[in-house]
Amino acid sequence: MKILAIETSCDDTCIAIINIKESKEKSIFSILANIVKTQTIHNAYGGVFPMMAKREHIKNIKPAYEQAMKKAKNSKIDAIAVTVGPGLEPALWVGITFAEELSKKLTVPIISVNHMKGHILSVLVNKNKIFTYDNKTLQFPILSLLVSGGHTELVISNNLNKYKIIGQTRDDAVGEAFDKVARMLELPYPGGPAISKLAEKERKNITSRSIKKNNGASKEIFSQKNIHTEKSNIPSEPKFPRPMIYSKDYDFSFSGLKTAVLYYIRDLTAQAGNGPLTEDIKSKIACEFEDACIEVLVSKTLRAIEQYKAKTLIVGGGVSANTYLQKILKARVKKVDSKIKVYFPVKGLSTDNALMIAIAGYFQYKNKKFHKKQKKIKAIGNLSL
Ligand code: KG4
Ligand code: ZN
Repeated sequence: MKILAIETSCDDTCIAIINIKESKEKSIFSILANIVKTQTIHNAYGGVFPMMAKREHIKNIKPAYEQAMKKAKNSKIDAIAVTVGPGLEPALWVGITFAEELSKKLTVPIISVNHMKGHILSVLVNKNKIFTYDNKTLQFPILSLLVSGGHTELVISNNLNKYKIIGQTRDDAVGEAFDKVARMLELPYPGGPAISKLAEKERKNITSRSIKKNNGASKEIFSQKNIHTEKSNIPSEPKFPRPMIYSKDYDFSFSGLKTAVLYYIRDLTAQAGNGPLTEDIKSKIACEFEDACIEVLVSKTLRAIEQYKAKTLIVGGGVSANTYLQKILKARVKKVDSKIKVYFPVKGLSTDNALMIAIAGYFQYKNKKFHKKQKKIKAIGNLSL
């Protein structure tokens, strides 16, 4: 069967088409098209404006669909999967309306998909255009760490149709904090990749200083307590809190951390006679901020793995593209239990795309969860898993 998927929950207009060959034991997926039209219009504002996003989706959706159909050689479509939430409602409605029109035209059912389920299942895609799912692909229970611009959640699942949130952010999402701190540092939107690049630069400096100090002897660059250990003693060295790291639950909070960065920058610029921040101090702030976020995420994830005896860890959402998070999490999980499988999305699939919606849609279809009649579908901005 062939599924066409539509994703318009935020600022990317995405259409994907997949083909699934089913047998008793396994499903073989092949990717026929995966179109992502990123809206750069928001970059100048450092955030996404829902009405502006809606307008851009309306402009982009038909060309994206035509491009996808052309790539898929006008294959016959059997079902349409569409993101119905969570996300920006005006943006979601564009995808839903398009899905409804298309479903009438092609007389095929619609599958309503939760965007976060898509982020979890995005890890099934490997580097090839063909990938397989069978009952050995993922070992349950699965713990998923979902980290995006709108969400920070830990989710446990015992099968692909059931997801239970065990903890989530009480205020800002981690990606949102990256975006806001990037704005404070006058870095481009989205902030995650820009902060991560500066932080990496600072870590390289720290390592080379440390190697020089140790006469060339290499040294572990992160420890249990403090991921990057060696720092200079200048009084302006940034040190930010690790919010809720010792709380017994699995909730997060990133708003206080963001404010700590704001106050630090405010005090530092006042000290320097309101002069601009140097590249050097920007890198130090980026590095300390990234360390703080990642220490909290890693610490809570490890605790949840142990408590829920998870056999698989999935990390999804825009922030899962962060190379430092990938490196630290993989290393730490391996230390706890080398048998636990850790999955991150392949390059390009951490951020929003319709391929993940197509995959999630397929598993729902298989489970007979689709709209058989033309029942009105609703966008739900705060839809939960
Ligand atoms: O999942 P996504 O594309 O959209 C939402 O559903 O929110 O996630 C976007 C978020 C943005 O906040 C962006 O700054 C963040 O993902 N992001 C990153 C990286 N790449 C994207 N954060 C940290 N490091 C990255 N390399
Ligand atoms: Zn997303």
